[in-house]
Amino acid sequence: MKAVVYHGIGDVRIDDVPEPKIEAPNDAIVRTTASAICGTDLHFVRGSFEGMQEGQTVGHEAVGIVEETGRDCRNLKAGDRVVVGSTIGCGTCSYCRASYYSKCNDANPVNPKNTAFFGGPKDSGNIKGLQAEYARIPFANVGAVKLPDSVSDDDAIVLSDIFPTAYFAADMASIKPGHLVVVLGCGSVGQLVIASAKLFDAGRIIAIDCVENRLEMAAKQGAETINFMSEDPVEAIASLTGGTGADCVIDAVGIDAYGRGGPPNDGFAPGDKPSQALEWAVEIVAKAGHISLVGVYPPAQTTFPIGKAFGKNVTLRMGDCPHRRYLPMLVRLAADGTISPSKLLTKQEPIEDAVSAYQSFSKHEPGWLKVELLPPAQLQGHGNGTAHAERLVTA
Ligand SMILES: NC(=O)c1ccc[n+]([C@@H]2O[C@H](COP(=O)([O-])OP(=O)(O)OC[C@H]3O[C@@H](n4cnc5c(N)ncnc54)[C@H](O)[C@@H]3O)[C@@H](O)[C@H]2O)c1
Ligand SMILES: [Zn+2]
Ligand SMILES: [Zn+2]
Repeated sequence: MKAVVYHGIGDVRIDDVPEPKIEAPNDAIVRTTASAICGTDLHFVRGSFEGMQEGQTVGHEAVGIVEETGRDCRNLKAGDRVVVGSTIGCGTCSYCRASYYSKCNDANPVNPKNTAFFGGPKDSGNIKGLQAEYARIPFANVGAVKLPDSVSDDDAIVLSDIFPTAYFAADMASIKPGHLVVVLGCGSVGQLVIASAKLFDAGRIIAIDCVENRLEMAAKQGAETINFMSEDPVEAIASLTGGTGADCVIDAVGIDAYGRGGPPNDGFAPGDKPSQALEWAVEIVAKAGHISLVGVYPPAQTTFPIGKAFGKNVTLRMGDCPHRRYLPMLVRLAADGTISPSKLLTKQEPIEDAVSAYQSFSKHEPGWLKVELLPPAQLQGHGNGTAHAERLVTA
């Protein structure tokens, strides 16, 4: 079968790889009908998050049809259409039963202290990724959520990772009705943080990035926007809030951050200011405010402006999303039309074209906000290069 495979920094290829088999009683084999490229995949390909093994199939976002189930995967059967949560939880340990699925004790066969997820570095469990025609889903009885007919694959692929992550970010930021929320980063996660902040009834949402078409989409959703290349974001927030700052600041950037000079714009070059988003977050947050980080930072990253945060009595929360906690609720919101996740998709590409898609996405080329990868059978009826840029939440 075809799969997108990591061969080294800046080097992903489409390879023929063996089809997966059932290995454990709770496994399912899923035929992927859609997968997607995420900013997290970029950290791996850029080399800013280490530990990827050559030969690893990448990708952690998928929708598909169950082909086969292990003997203990009793709530799914062949033919079921499912969305697969990016992180893997056993459903039985104390963390999973507290809905902290990403901190599961039993899902990571390499390092139980680390989040288990698909298509990542060795320490994340070395579990094959989802940018492939078929995938083995460990603990599928927990992490693969059945879809109603009213939720399309295009909606569901956005629910596999990034909508739950954005909702988790808003939840960790303790957004209350009326709060003033600042979102750093207007990639697909940042756009969905804006949507989630609306679901929490934020009063004002201010979005910061330097990519103009991403800021335009944020504005279409109702956010006030700041381009950090043309104005100092710390001064702009102070001026827009009468010096108060933000109740809640959400970092949807992570390790590959740029400074005010903007992106290196050189293929898979990593960001040149890894703690820039954190530094701005601490400057921007109000006294006693909340900072929530879902932008990913690798274990080797140690820089954080602790003294300034201490002086403001900041509450700081962060981490890998426990996807399964939010997935069923978001499927319901998509089914009843409260959210329209598919409007985030700006590109639908055949999986064979994944290498060039990675390059365009990494360079933030206009229109490459969120890339869905489709197997040949699913391509029919999909336009290419459509930038919907519409509201993700109805009101
Ligand atoms: N915690 C989780 O469970 C989880 C899940 C999914 C994604 N993520 C992470 O979320 C982050 C965003 O993902 P994405 O797919 O939207 O990535 P993306 O690369 O498409 O978007 C990142 C955006 O940040 C902007 N940016 C760079 N430096 C900035 C700065 N200093 N201030 C403000 N904006 C800046 C970039 O221009 C870009 O638009 C990544 O770090 C990804 O790994 C985390
Ligand atoms: Zn992702
Ligand atoms: Zn568990």
